[in-house]
Amino acid sequence: MNEILKVLFHRRAVKAFEPVDIPQVLREQILDAARHAPSSFNSQPYKFYWVGSAPQKAVVAKLCLGQKPAETASALVVAVADLGSLSATAQGQLEWMRRSNFTEEKIRDYERKAKIGRILFMPGPFGIFGAVKWAIFRLVNLWKTMGMPPVFRQDLLKWATKSTSLACENLMIAAEALGLNTCPMEGFDGRRLSRFLGLSTRYHEIVMVIAIGKKSPAYAEPPQWRRPLHATVTVL
Ligand SMILES: Cc1cc2nc3c(=O)[nH]c(=O)nc-3n(C[C@H](O)[C@H](O)[C@H](O)COP(=O)(O)O)c2cc1C
Repeated sequence: MNEILKVLFHRRAVKAFEPVDIPQVLREQILDAARHAPSSFNSQPYKFYWVGSAPQKAVVAKLCLGQKPAETASALVVAVADLGSLSATAQGQLEWMRRSNFTEEKIRDYERKAKIGRILFMPGPFGIFGAVKWAIFRLVNLWKTMGMPPVFRQDLLKWATKSTSLACENLMIAAEALGLNTCPMEGFDGRRLSRFLGLSTRYHEIVMVIAIGKKSPAYAEPPQWRRPLHATVTVL
């Protein structure tokens, strides 16, 4: 079987780890794989907190409701959907384009798109701007085929969560390919964990926490069940 598919099929949510150190070089490869995931408009609307030091890990594990994968992992990665870095990301891409000698036309085109993105993706105070945008888009959509951009804060966080989740999957597959194991977790106290990490309720939402480590030899995985293909796929 193809090597990538082998890793994909081999990955399991591991619930108990043995204590091992994750070398920095592996950590960087895993996180690098995460940020290479595709993202909407290449906006990379996420950030990751790698919690590897014992005292910090103990706090985060407790906030993951003391779940065994969290308690036994070598590191915990908190994946956060991040609306606060959009302007800086666009600026960063623009600077990269200038350094990489993109044509003036391409740079102007990106600047124009980034400006439209800023307008589209800004909910404004109390979501008022979002409500106005929503009404305009719905009206236009009555006679024009168009996608509905995220307009309210919750839509924006959902939008950022999609890209964050793809990065999480990349991260887990990379860890597996490097001989480690993972467990994604949504069982955590989001309010306390956000406060612990100093996140803003306006711009951030924790998508999941990923426990990373080496599967404990004492841990026996249950058989893996999936719905049959025909139940999940419609071929048109
Ligand atoms: C978004 C998400 C949240 C999850 N949350 C938890 C969790 O809080 N605790 C846990 O033990 N497993 C959690 N899991 C792991 C699932 O239980 C596991 O992926 C599923 O049972 C399928 O098993 P497999 O990944 O080994 O095939 C989560 C998985 C996902 C994708």
